[in-house]
Amino acid sequence: MTLTLQRQDLMPGAQLIGANWCDASDGRRLDVTDPASDTVFASVPDGSAADAAAAVDAAHAAFPAWRAVPAKQRAQILKRWNDLMLAHQDDLGRLISREQGKPLAEGKGEVLYAASYVEWFAEEATRANGDVIPAPVPGRRMFALREPVGVVAAITPWNFPAAMIARKIAPALAAGCTVVCKPAEDTPLTSLALIKLAQEAGVPAGVINIVTASRERTPEVVDVWLDDSRVRKITFTGSTPVGKHLARRSADTLKKLSLELGGNAPFIVFDDADLDVAVEGVMAAKFRNGGQTCVCPNRVYVQAGVHDAFLDKLAARVGALRVGPATDPASQIGPMINARAVDKIERHVLDAVARGARIVVGGKRLRSASCDGPNYFAPTILADVHAGMECSYEETFGPVAPVTRFATEAEVIAAANDTPFGLAAYFYSTDVRRIWRVAEALESGIVGINEGAIAAEAAPFGGVKESGYGREGSVHGLDDYLHTKYICQGQL
Ligand code: SIN
Repeated sequence: MTLTLQRQDLMPGAQLIGANWCDASDGRRLDVTDPASDTVFASVPDGSAADAAAAVDAAHAAFPAWRAVPAKQRAQILKRWNDLMLAHQDDLGRLISREQGKPLAEGKGEVLYAASYVEWFAEEATRANGDVIPAPVPGRRMFALREPVGVVAAITPWNFPAAMIARKIAPALAAGCTVVCKPAEDTPLTSLALIKLAQEAGVPAGVINIVTASRERTPEVVDVWLDDSRVRKITFTGSTPVGKHLARRSADTLKKLSLELGGNAPFIVFDDADLDVAVEGVMAAKFRNGGQTCVCPNRVYVQAGVHDAFLDKLAARVGALRVGPATDPASQIGPMINARAVDKIERHVLDAVARGARIVVGGKRLRSASCDGPNYFAPTILADVHAGMECSYEETFGPVAPVTRFATEAEVIAAANDTPFGLAAYFYSTDVRRIWRVAEALESGIVGINEGAIAAEAAPFGGVKESGYGREGSVHGLDDYLHTKYICQGQL
């Protein structure tokens, strides 16, 4: 079924290189599939290496003029972009939900979340202050200026098709950088719509370029950007193996990197926690976007004294979740993004059960009149989970909460940190001394204490260990697109 929008031109069906909305250099197309029905409903160009090179040419040519635009004027353009996103939140929300599968309320919520980054960086654009440094000798003046790094390549994932574009492109533009961008092959439409609105907001030709590409063609597009020394920074959200590949391949031209990679978030409930608050926390953190979020709890640890009571309360909430397509306003969990995702979730559940886990709720694929497609998986709770199960050491990226019983604080901190990853961690406790001890002991870029909804435009989002480096959002999110130039004037 085709998607009818109030503004049909927000589905241009073309990629933007310089001033031109164009096809792939060889005319190839990429089908866009509705994950709810597994049917094709749109197509975009399947961009080539030649398109990727043309995009860098355009971004490089646009850079000198864009960096020279006064910060206040760049901020005004970003503010207009924010306003247009809000004005078109219905169309954008429907696009997100159709190509990504999340319920419509979440799709529209993501538009607001994305716009909040654009608004934030519009304001930060005017605050990229440098330093005046007291000179150690007479007759000198010393300064540190902050300058845009240059052309940025932004490679974005499918789970938040609007927010990740906004979180990367808004700070780049605020800093005075120009952008070449490649959205995930599953969700190219939202990014094209956002960039159409950015153009309407007054972003000049060449400042943002977008190449859409299939899974097969993505390596050739990205390799062009990796090899081109004019691309000075890569910003990527996605898997750790791909992040490592980008880091290795960027070494030859020593690009600056921001890598927001895989997680394996622990969610810890101590005996002294408020159990109702903890259950709400899991619902918010684990089941948002059907569990397809890199900050989703992947391991739920519950202390022995409250384990059974917690599990009962959680089972009641998870068992009541409504699964269905985005088009049904009652849906709380949509389909998974594609068959590969559902296969992985099923593999994790089967592996856990084979190794002794117990299914408390769900545990299987769903197919029914309301879940009429191959990509639905029932919201699931597993109990008696241990560290040897795949779901404990690999990110499941689906609506599965694996629960493990623990005895002591020391034991759970060791377990929580026993992973190469360190993106998010959550814990629930009412003991203020324990709160500071545990928050400091967790090896994680983000810690939620008695809170499951942690992301915000004003907060630094990013990981430690193999979850990557660099921060998005907050004042630190702008720093990642700037370098520092020291200027020393003598003979004064
Ligand atoms: C992500 O999953 O990469 C982003 C999640 C968020 O912004 O909360």
